[in-house]
Amino acid sequence: MKLHYNPASPYVRKVRVVALETGLMGDIELAEVSVTPTGPDAKLCSDNPIGKIPTLIRDEGDALYDSRVICEYLDGLHNGARLFPENGEARWTAVRRQALADGILDAAVGTRYETFLRPQALRWPDWVDGQMGKVRRSLDALERESLADTLDIGTISVACALGYLDFRYPDEGWRDARPKLAAWYESFAARPSMIETSPE
Ligand code: BEZ
Repeated sequence: MKLHYNPASPYVRKVRVVALETGLMGDIELAEVSVTPTGPDAKLCSDNPIGKIPTLIRDEGDALYDSRVICEYLDGLHNGARLFPENGEARWTAVRRQALADGILDAAVGTRYETFLRPQALRWPDWVDGQMGKVRRSLDALERESLADTLDIGTISVACALGYLDFRYPDEGWRDARPKLAAWYESFAARPSMIETSPE
């Protein structure tokens, strides 16, 4: 398999953590690509018309996207404990947490583009405030959850979202009013799969 990837992308990180946790990383060749909303990559677009990473080219030759689909696909290729629980409450908790973490990322990555890429004269502070409001409300909700020792697609996604905040928003201070979440992340971030995929 081949993965279109960039080491800074938190969505790619989810896929790489899943691949490492399931022992599949050795079956995946990494192909680095650099994309922004205004700078698509022609090769990537020929595999994925949306032009986004991660995009996985299967051994069968076709492409899978986005990170949720790729993670679930990889989870069907190994014989260990499932990262997507098959049914019951555990499944709905895991996929809801994945949606919440991806929502944090959508807001944080969008804000990064707004504040870093968009020309100064075209920036819209109210939009940034709205996006960062989503991030902060979601972190408050996660502080009230019991993430405990669970390893599944929900906790992997939450950890990748928190890692992205540390990477791009080091002054946000998300830990300050969220001691439970901070303690959980400290432990989860020590996993070899998280250390190996730390963003550059
Ligand atoms: C970033 O550099 O922040 C970034 C890169 C790729 C995807 C999303 C974010």
